[in-house]
Amino acid sequence: MCGIVAYIGKKRAAPVLLDGLKKLEYRGYDCAGVALLFDGKLEVFKRQGRVEALEPARTLAGNAGIGHTRWATHGAPSERNAHPHRYGRICLVHNGIIENADALRRECLARGERFSSDTDSEVAAHLIDGLYQEENDLLRAVRRACGRLSGSYAFAVLCEGREEVVCARMRSPLIVAKGEDGAFAASDIGAVAAPGRQGCVLEDGEFARLTREGAEVFDAHLHPVRRTFFSLGDEEALPGKGEYPHFMRKEIAEAPSAIEKTLFEAEKHINSQLCEVLCQTEYLDIVACGTAYHSGLCFQYAAERIAHIRTEVFSASEYRDLQPVAMPHTLTIAVSQSGETADTLAAAQAAKARGCRVLAVTNVARSSLERAADFVLPTRAGREVAVAATKSFQAQLAALYVLCTQLAKGRNLPAPSLAGLAVLAAETLARSAAVEAWVPLFCEARSVFFLGRGADRCAALEGSLKLKEISYLPSEGYAAGELKHGTLALVDGRTPVVAVVCDEALADRTMNAVHEVYARGAPVFLVTPFEALARAREVTACALIPRCDPAFSPMLSVIPLQLLAYHVALACGNDPDKPRNLAKSVTVE
Ligand code: M6R
Repeated sequence: MCGIVAYIGKKRAAPVLLDGLKKLEYRGYDCAGVALLFDGKLEVFKRQGRVEALEPARTLAGNAGIGHTRWATHGAPSERNAHPHRYGRICLVHNGIIENADALRRECLARGERFSSDTDSEVAAHLIDGLYQEENDLLRAVRRACGRLSGSYAFAVLCEGREEVVCARMRSPLIVAKGEDGAFAASDIGAVAAPGRQGCVLEDGEFARLTREGAEVFDAHLHPVRRTFFSLGDEEALPGKGEYPHFMRKEIAEAPSAIEKTLFEAEKHINSQLCEVLCQTEYLDIVACGTAYHSGLCFQYAAERIAHIRTEVFSASEYRDLQPVAMPHTLTIAVSQSGETADTLAAAQAAKARGCRVLAVTNVARSSLERAADFVLPTRAGREVAVAATKSFQAQLAALYVLCTQLAKGRNLPAPSLAGLAVLAAETLARSAAVEAWVPLFCEARSVFFLGRGADRCAALEGSLKLKEISYLPSEGYAAGELKHGTLALVDGRTPVVAVVCDEALADRTMNAVHEVYARGAPVFLVTPFEALARAREVTACALIPRCDPAFSPMLSVIPLQLLAYHVALACGNDPDKPRNLAKSVTVE
């Protein structure tokens, strides 16, 4: 969470920082700020709210600076708590959580130092300032300060009177880049990518010094590290919205291409080494969060049914605390769009420590997860900017379904073909426009339920997450058969129910739940390929989608649900790309 950008070079720093921060805003948008170094002096400009509030700072002078867009952890979203934080000669931006901040703060207070924010981050500025007075060397001061911190951090630090930016990384992503126009650091490649520039990913425990001459990387002992810098071409840059009003709408439309590209790429990545591991695998553990967790649930259904392999899906945030019994020949699959989700990373590392092989399914090349895993199945969704995950969900399913068919093949089991899924997704998109008409009943709703059985339940869970995330309506995804065991008590005429029915074998039983909610006055909306169901008396409206193998159907049935969430969010007056309190990449636990 939080986005960092730093620059020093030939250009004026303020526009570089502001443009970079705009591209990082998906990481947090509670408050933002920049600090510029001009004539050896520091100037700080911060505001509550989005990066656009920093526009007046665009004209500030200085060829070196640091910037930050914040997702609040410690301290309310306010100008006071916005970064950069300044103490003495030091000014810094921080992404992560300093876990021992309270103890360090008490030390500083005992020395008579005063704090000007409620954040954990400010304590680092105090520490560095004190150590800089002893060392007279910013890099050494930052390193010594980091030695006293526990938790996670990515820092970019300026010091009055010094023409340099010092960076440090521990369990929070940070990349360093250089080009003819100067040196950069950022939480995400996309913020600084441009033709002609080159970048490298800082590893945990490493430091970097940016000067007008370029970027140097140092290890934990401050020995220079030789890094191969990779080219940051246009393809790494964050995309625009094109003809669409919102990133979310554009990304929903990109699902067919995400599916097609991922199916192609995943096949290529199943090499002989991975095949060998798959053949030996007896158990699959999935670790993931949010939408990626739902991809894991969809995969579980397909893997058990098609490849006959015992699969368990864990919420990554629970995995380490649960300490599941380590079964021999377990392959752990960590699914994450960003590849930076702290809980998923921690779970993958815990699985490795238990002796499991880890396969990463991620959308971001060179992400922390990709670098931590033994094997990688990349998803090729393209950059996803909207906080609500959409096309990345289908891309994850594409990669996982390829894995599923490979597992089946290794066990001499037949598997349904994946060919044609991208075309069916395009057809589903075209047919789903009808959901816009459903919106009024949802806007007036007290709460919403999404129901399904089997793979349809997984799609229902994802549809519900999407709706609550961007419309702020209380919503729950439920196994259709579970409803009557308590939750039915909540259903009345102001509780729209969306039923997903894509498996013919389960249709009658799911429709029982539909009868039950209809009898309690609930308006019922159906997502199904079966025309006969659409005509049922109980159904208020239906999104008729194409038919595919039920094990793979969430790839299609989720599309009308994503569109529904999008339109309801708009009707509620919300920004679907930046829902309140959330951020795209959750890099803190
Ligand atoms: O980057 P990841 O896939 O690891 O992110 C996991 C979740 O934070 C993410 O899917 C989140 O639930 C989405 N905002 C849901 O739309």
